[in-house]
Amino acid sequence: ETGLITMDPGYKNTGACESKITFLDGEEGKLMYRGYPIEQLAEKSSFVEVMYLLIKGELPTQKELDKFVADITEYNYVSEDLIKILDAFPSSAHPMGVLTSLTAALSAFNPKCVDVSSAEDMYRAAVTLLGKFTVLASWTQRKIKGLPVNYSNDKLSYVENFYQLLFRKPGQDLDIDPVIIDAIDKLLILHADHEQNCSTSSVRLVGSSHAGLFASISGGISALWGPLHGGANQAVLEMLEAISNDGGDVEKYLAKAKDKNDPFRLMGFGHRVYKNFDPRAKIIKVAADNVLEKLGINDPILEIAKKLEQAALEDEYFKERNLYPNVDFYSGIIYKALDIPTEMFTVMFAVGRLPGWIAQWMEMRETNQPIGRPRQLYTGSPLRDYVEIEKR
Ligand code: SDX
Repeated sequence: ETGLITMDPGYKNTGACESKITFLDGEEGKLMYRGYPIEQLAEKSSFVEVMYLLIKGELPTQKELDKFVADITEYNYVSEDLIKILDAFPSSAHPMGVLTSLTAALSAFNPKCVDVSSAEDMYRAAVTLLGKFTVLASWTQRKIKGLPVNYSNDKLSYVENFYQLLFRKPGQDLDIDPVIIDAIDKLLILHADHEQNCSTSSVRLVGSSHAGLFASISGGISALWGPLHGGANQAVLEMLEAISNDGGDVEKYLAKAKDKNDPFRLMGFGHRVYKNFDPRAKIIKVAADNVLEKLGINDPILEIAKKLEQAALEDEYFKERNLYPNVDFYSGIIYKALDIPTEMFTVMFAVGRLPGWIAQWMEMRETNQPIGRPRQLYTGSPLRDYVEIEKR
């Protein structure tokens, strides 16, 4: 304590805002969007309906949902000039770096969406981004595969269109397996919002200066990229494959994760708020079994993940610290089964989190939150006079 300022690095004990969007109970491992439990939404809802729920606060009637989807579909294309920016990237560029750049660049092509303040203008900026984001996200996969970009098909649902944007080969039709679409839809629901996590707090902080929606979301994508946050789903697969290549020796990697001299952490484990099972991880683990079985895939990586989870849950170090699998632990196994490249996993997380980021940004603006500007504890040099270079 220094009188006026309470230090709280990482904001572990700081409430930054009031919000009506998402509630999570870290002790009990519970999560709900606008009061609806994630288990029911994952089972019964759809990603576009959850988008509406997060942004509008209520489940839509069929008429309201149809209008919302039509509003988004109206914007499911982007300016051809943006392809020049995409072409400038090397195919080795990480998709998250490409996506954060293209999202910020949208401001230049949609000036009416930048300086918005009325509810109507913020809604238009929101559906504009919801329509264009899957196009840009799909471009990042086409880039790393050296394939030409695809264009939206208005006859398809939001997730079906996203899937064909990602995978349709030039000049060919793509038969769309409902098992795959259902798996992606469920994963996107489970990633849609998570109260004041690192990337959402970043979106709110950038937006608190009244920077536009696209610039604020671009900041959130950058924060999500980090391996301690959304980048963990890519790091989990890389870790599981390393264990598999190392003879499946999970105990060896558990020991590395506990060794304070070793920077290695068990990726996909632990959480700032959940000190119990992450409810999303429970649902995704079951979904992973179902999807692989329906697609007739027997992936040894899934067995290694289960072995690693079991060993960690029985280990004193992890139990003492309430470390459980989080949302990123099993999601990559499903993405891999759907032939999504590992470096695209965090882009998939961003596509899911987009409606949550947008809803939080709108709430921050609608409630006139002040510009975010924390203080600090200065521990640098005391006052001193300038010394000319010849005297140094
Ligand atoms: C997401 O916030 C959100 O809601 C995020 C998210 C969302 O939906 O937006 O849920 C998505 O980002 C999930 C988290 C994905 N990240 C990972 O899986 C990376 C591995 N996890 C850790 O880096 C860590 O658990 C964090 C970053 C998730 C949480 O870090 P904290 O809350 O700052 O906890 P900490 O680093 O202070 O750890 C507490 C103790 C430490 O040991 P001690 O110093 O007490 O001896 O637990 C240890 C840590 O060393 N620890 C781990 C560990 N996680 C914590 N040790 C080994 N492996 C781990 N994974």
